[in-house]
Amino acid sequence: MKIGLLGYGTVGSAFYAMAIEHPETSDITLLDLKRHDDLTCRQTADFQDILRDESIGTVVELIGGLHPAYEFVSSALKSGKHVVTANKQLVSACYDELIALAEENSVSLRCTAAAGGGIPWLHSLARLAECDRITSVSGIMNGTTNYILSAMTEQGTEYADNLREAQRLGYAEADPTADVEGYDACRKLVLSANIAFGVSIREAEVPCFGISGITAQDIAAFKRLGLVCKLIAHADRAGDQVAACVEPMLFPVSGQMAHVNGPDNLISLHAERVGTQRFAGAGAGGFATASNVLADCFEIMRGCGAFYTSRRDAVSVNNAALTQRYYVRAGEEAASRTMTVAEAHAMADQFKKERKPFFMAAASEER
Ligand SMILES: NC(=O)c1ccc[n+]([C@@H]2O[C@H](COP(=O)([O-])OP(=O)(O)OC[C@H]3O[C@@H](n4cnc5c(N)ncnc54)[C@H](OP(=O)(O)O)[C@@H]3O)[C@@H](O)[C@H]2O)c1
Repeated sequence: MKIGLLGYGTVGSAFYAMAIEHPETSDITLLDLKRHDDLTCRQTADFQDILRDESIGTVVELIGGLHPAYEFVSSALKSGKHVVTANKQLVSACYDELIALAEENSVSLRCTAAAGGGIPWLHSLARLAECDRITSVSGIMNGTTNYILSAMTEQGTEYADNLREAQRLGYAEADPTADVEGYDACRKLVLSANIAFGVSIREAEVPCFGISGITAQDIAAFKRLGLVCKLIAHADRAGDQVAACVEPMLFPVSGQMAHVNGPDNLISLHAERVGTQRFAGAGAGGFATASNVLADCFEIMRGCGAFYTSRRDAVSVNNAALTQRYYVRAGEEAASRTMTVAEAHAMADQFKKERKPFFMAAASEER
C-alpha cells in the first residue's frame, strides 16, 4: 500500500514511526509545510503531487481542522484513493458528503482515531451494530476537560489555574474553546451515535454545555454531597428519534466514572442483547492515536466497505423527553431542579446570551 501522509505533527510523526516498521505501509510520501531532513521518505509541499501520483492508493490525513483538510480529503476520494483520518471536526461536519464520495468512488473512508484516540471505539460500535441494536452511547470523550475537572477535584483549585496547567502540559491547546465548551466531545458523539444507530445527526442539533463556568465553589458543593463532576457526551436512541447532548454530570464518588482521572477516556455503549460494554484508555496522544490510524490502513488493505455503516437514516435530535435532576447555579445561588435536557440547555443558552455567571450539572446514575 503506497501512502500519502498529510501532516507531520503529533499524530503524523507517530504514525510515520509506526508505519515504516511494516513493509506493507512503509512506502510513504509526506506532505508537510516544512521539510524534515531526517526522514528518508519522499517529501512534498504540494498536495497535487500526491493527488496526481496514481500509485498512491491511500491518503492519511493528519493535518486537522476543516480547511484545507476538506479539500484534500474530498479530492482524494474523488480521485479513487482510500482515506484514513483522525479529524473528528471534518468527518462530523461533512459526514454525509464524505461517505457519499467514498461510496460513489468505490473507496474506503475510515476515522477510528477520531473518537477515543487510541481506543478502537468506532470500530467496535460498527461491529456490534451489525448484530445487535445499540440503544445508547455515552462517556468521557474529552481528555482535556477530564484533566481539568480531576485537578480541580483533587486540589480544590480554580478552573483558570488548571486550564493554564493543562496548556503547559500540552493537554489543552492555546485556544481551548473546542475542548472546554464541549464541541470536541460533541463531534465525537456525533460520529459515535451515527455509526452506532445508523443515523445521520448533525453537530448543530446537539446542545453542548461545557465546563468554562465551573468554580471551586461548585466542586466543593459536589464533594459535600459525595459527588464528582465529569463532562459527559451521551446519546440515546428512542424509536425514530435520538436524544443527544454534551453536559457536565455528577457521579457518586464510589463509582467507576469518578475514578477516571487525568486525560483518560471512559466510553460505554448499551445494546439490547449484549448489555453494557465499557472502553477505557488513552483518548489522545501521538502513538495511541496513530495506532488506530495504522489499524485503519491495515483494514483497508484487507478490503473493507466504503464506511463503517451504509445506513444514514435522517432522524431528528429531540431532548424534550429525557428528564433529569440538575444542579443549577446562577451567580452565587445554587439549587436542584428537575427538567428535561431541552429545558436545561435552553436555560443555559439564555444565561450565556446574557453573559451571566451560570453552571449546571446533571445528576446521573452510573451510565
Ligand atoms: N493529538 C492527539 O492526541 C489527537 C487525538 C485524536 C485525534 N487527533 C486528530 O489528529 C489530527 C492531527 O492532530 P495533531 O495533534 O497531530 O495536530 P498537529 O500536531 O497540529 O499536526 C498537524 C500537522 O499538519 C501540518 N499542516 C498544517 N497545515 C498543513 C497543510 N496545509 N499542508 C500540510 N501540512 C499541514 C502542521 O504543520 P505545522 O506544524 O508546520 O503547522 C503539522 O505538522 C487532528 O485532526 C486531531 O483532531 C489528534
